[in-house]
Amino acid sequence: MKHYLSIKDIDSLPDWVAEARTLKENPLLFQELGTNKTICLLFFNNSLRTRLSTQKAAINLGLEVVVMNFGNEGWALEFEDGTVMNQNKSEHIKEAAQVISQYCDIVAIRAFASLTDKTKDEAELVLNGFTKYATVPVVNMESSVGHPLQALADAITLAEHNTKARPKVVLSWAPHPKALPHAVANSFVEMMQLQDADFVITQPKGYELDPDITKNTKIEHDQQKALQDADFVYVKNWSSYNDYGKVLSQDPVWMMTKEKLDKAKFMHCLPVRRNVVVEDAILDGNQSLAIEQANNRTYAAQLVLKKILKSLP
Ligand code: CP
Repeated sequence: MKHYLSIKDIDSLPDWVAEARTLKENPLLFQELGTNKTICLLFFNNSLRTRLSTQKAAINLGLEVVVMNFGNEGWALEFEDGTVMNQNKSEHIKEAAQVISQYCDIVAIRAFASLTDKTKDEAELVLNGFTKYATVPVVNMESSVGHPLQALADAITLAEHNTKARPKVVLSWAPHPKALPHAVANSFVEMMQLQDADFVITQPKGYELDPDITKNTKIEHDQQKALQDADFVYVKNWSSYNDYGKVLSQDPVWMMTKEKLDKAKFMHCLPVRRNVVVEDAILDGNQSLAIEQANNRTYAAQLVLKKILKSLP
């Protein structure tokens, strides 16, 4: 595998999930794969889970890890072609990506959506800039449009807890005071489209995700109806896609409660705002899989890095 940029890079989700679960049982089995090799983790935005789990995954595979926070440590990068760089951008992606490629064997990038310019966000300037100009494989650690490492960890978690041939899985929008990107929801939807499940998205009107991503996925605006007989409820806020990046509602009626969850398992990518997105009783109870999802981030990343390392010359 050359790059891991989106869910589309997964050739067989059941095979990937099975292999990740095997890795989880014996995470140090492939330590020789990364010997004398280095991964650079480049962060244009904050992180807890992605940063630590990807480092842990790399260490499990014997890789050396170099981390850089571009937001406050690197030169401000220019991504547009042909720009007269007489403003605040000091270095072009063309040089930066080639230079970084000389220091590592794999580069992983986190660069969120601006939520101010849909066209630029959908062009994935940072991720695609590195993919175009780096000479080493690129891993997406959450870009404007997708978070495929999170969705792979979610698929592992679902497989570990599912007891049915065709479970009911609900992606339920939640209120949040800040405008959040669509990346986690997008990749979760794309991952669920590869599963045999009764999958439904529930959200207030105006919060429809990109129709090119949701395609013919069921959408139900009545949250109570959507949650009926659910086995798994994935709760997540995202800002409006049509009214791009806007917070249209903070209606607390959409917060997930223990009563609404009923017997279903609760999922969330974290970080989560308690008693805004979900009430304490769920996070502190035994129906929450959020901590296990975070643990599975290591094995999702480890599987991806293992596949890339195996395909290096
Ligand atoms: N879920 C997730 O990506 O967490 P971080 O933003 O902390 O990395």
